[in-house]
Amino acid sequence: MFSKTMWRAVIGAALVAPFALTAAQAQDTVKIGLIVPMTGGQASTGKQIDNAVKLYMQQHGDTVAGRKIEVILKDDATLPDNTKRLAQELIVNDKVKVIAGFGITPAALAAAPLATRAKVPEVVMAAGTSIITERSPYIVRTSFTLAQSSTIIGDWAAKNGIKKVATLTSDYAPGHDALRFFKEHFTAGGGRIVEEVKVPLANPDFAPFLQRMKDAKPDAIYVFVPAGQGGAFMKQYAERGLDKAGIRVIGPGDVMDDDLLNGMGDSAIGAVTAHIYSAAHPSQMNRDFVAAYKKAYNQRPGFMAVGGYDGIHLIYQALKKTGGKADGDSLVAAMKGMKWESPRGPISIDPDTRDIVQNVYIRKVEKKDGELYNVEFVTFKGVKDPGKTKK
Ligand code: PHB
Repeated sequence: MFSKTMWRAVIGAALVAPFALTAAQAQDTVKIGLIVPMTGGQASTGKQIDNAVKLYMQQHGDTVAGRKIEVILKDDATLPDNTKRLAQELIVNDKVKVIAGFGITPAALAAAPLATRAKVPEVVMAAGTSIITERSPYIVRTSFTLAQSSTIIGDWAAKNGIKKVATLTSDYAPGHDALRFFKEHFTAGGGRIVEEVKVPLANPDFAPFLQRMKDAKPDAIYVFVPAGQGGAFMKQYAERGLDKAGIRVIGPGDVMDDDLLNGMGDSAIGAVTAHIYSAAHPSQMNRDFVAAYKKAYNQRPGFMAVGGYDGIHLIYQALKKTGGKADGDSLVAAMKGMKWESPRGPISIDPDTRDIVQNVYIRKVEKKDGELYNVEFVTFKGVKDPGKTKK
């Protein structure tokens, strides 16, 4: 027979248990809101990031420092108003501890005030305009900046016999950075810009501009289009006969994105770009990463996949360092100065700017065993973002 006290204990436990469980679960699980474009113009960016985050979690498990990790994936359809609304809902309703992703600069900027107000880290895995990390003390970036690659290709072009360049850049913030930093460096090295064209971000038609560029007879055309658009650009470049006219393609590496490169055909051979990642990067870690990604998704990872892979790694490592404490201030403090080896090479988070410090490689498209690759041939080590405003 149960005594009165025993019954009281049983009933008490039954009443408390559901609440106790929920509280424990809420405490244990760290939710991460992953906001990326899975549809719309930049869908390939979102898919690469989602793939890479899933791959990382398969490889490393879903528990860190005793806390379970749950990623909540949201598609902003490449529309920054959606990004903002989704970030708000994830922070307020789902109580996520980190927001991450951000396929384009306007998306990263739209979420910045929310990150600041809620003190929630915003891990930028894709967008590349320099100003982004200055918009909130809670922003940390694992992608790249256009200034990192554009300055380097500007210097390289001027020193390597390219005298006249026509530019074609996407007409929004990262395109403006890509143009400004290239121009500064290329003209300082004695180069001349003979034609300057800006194309819209959404559904660009390059053909009308390409004829103008061909007529200007430049040595090379400097191109920045965001990840996902390089294939369409290169098709029209070949159709208009710019390759036959001997006009080379140079630029930041976005136009030669690895996931599209094989579809571009032989007109891409010889294109020289400066960038932070190549699927052909000759390290064991990268060979393993490319093999695992191909096995899981039957395609090559591009630089957006690497931004996602490193972004989730950064969150895991920060949680390890805080012993599972997941408030924004502790996480951002842990992320500052963190260093690790990425499939792209050694990288770190600049403790002063929260931006990524990384190698920038100059690469040339070559065909190997029937496939096109960006083959790295010069390395600039530990490049900080040259685009930060001086304080
Ligand atoms: C950006 O919107 O910041 C962006 C997107 C794709 C790129 C580079 C920059 O390839």
